[in-house]
Amino acid sequence: MNLTKDEEAILKGESGESARKAMELITAIGKIYGAEDLVNITSAHLSGASYKTIGDGGLIYLEDVVKGGAKVKVKSTLNPVGMDRNRWSEMHISEDFAKKQLRIIELYKSMGVNTTCSCTPYTGVNVPKLGDHVAWAESSALSYVNSMIGARTNREGGPGALAAAILGKTANYGLHLKKNRKPDVVIDVNIGGSVFEYSLLGQAVGSIIGNKIPYFRGIKPGLEEAKTMAGAMASSGSVAMFHVDGVTPEYADFDIDELEVIYVGKDELKEAYDKLNTTDDIQLISLGCPHLTEKEIHEIALMIRSKKKKKDVEIWFCTSSAVKEKCHEDVKIIEEFGLVLTDTCMVVSPIEKSFSCTGTNSCKAGNYLQTLCSQKVMCKDITQLLKVVY
Ligand code: F3S
Repeated sequence: MNLTKDEEAILKGESGESARKAMELITAIGKIYGAEDLVNITSAHLSGASYKTIGDGGLIYLEDVVKGGAKVKVKSTLNPVGMDRNRWSEMHISEDFAKKQLRIIELYKSMGVNTTCSCTPYTGVNVPKLGDHVAWAESSALSYVNSMIGARTNREGGPGALAAAILGKTANYGLHLKKNRKPDVVIDVNIGGSVFEYSLLGQAVGSIIGNKIPYFRGIKPGLEEAKTMAGAMASSGSVAMFHVDGVTPEYADFDIDELEVIYVGKDELKEAYDKLNTTDDIQLISLGCPHLTEKEIHEIALMIRSKKKKKDVEIWFCTSSAVKEKCHEDVKIIEEFGLVLTDTCMVVSPIEKSFSCTGTNSCKAGNYLQTLCSQKVMCKDITQLLKVVY
């Protein structure tokens, strides 16, 4: 790889041990993927924040990184952690888990990371611009910013994103290069317009195309539709970027005439729905994967404000602290039904310790609740899900 003099010096340890280790990791990744050089980034979004997913090994690793004097050089935000830092006891979290989780947050904070702990930082706290190079490590969020904003990031892992944040640079390969952002396949879509249908669309398309870049025709996603579709495609497949005809900023930059065309309609959505639904009986409903937006919080409040909760099913509404603060009145209505949680989500919290059957309106959650949380899943539209408790 071609490194500048300053980058060589970092690799020799002249900027400290943490920077040296970060440079070692980034250049090793760059060599594996054939990067010619490094590129400056404007922001990072870090995963590897839940004690459930990183365990004691991850905690020790972070303690070491902090001891080495690590500080992030660019705006860096943190993904959801294993609990709401103020309401963890209501989530049935043990004191031991809470103590370790709070320490993890503290360690990230001491490195200069914004510990808002949300998977939708692009709605407020960390908003890249078109053409920005960034290093993001949350599969739904990185797909969203690649596609809907036109920022450039690869599908980073937790340690890679942290190393990039410490250096303010990442290896220049993959989706950082315009030539690799071209679509691989056209998806002609004929579905309705609900957010849940977009989630099923993402589920179906991810299963069909794996890690290719799709070019959609026939849809017009807004924020809520795009974030759920991105999450579903990143979990049923490993899609890191998509184009939408007439919507995404780079859709017109490539020639699609020769591409394979795949049709996705109601039958494909039904197949995705049938595969995800594995129970009719649930103990928990968890909404907000990716985190609920202001619009979604408002719609839920309207949906339930004249209803009475009759069935004893716990409900978690997962969002960011910024959104919760802005939606004070709606939150009061929603809390009649369940907990409005921040910092966390159903997948990265240890719900398997308390529940075995969970309802969600997100196909991304539907996938991971089964594979990472040992849950039987009910995956339905939000109105259908909430009818379970009226
Ligand atoms: Fe966010 Fe958790 Fe879903 S991190 S995208 S709510 S799995």
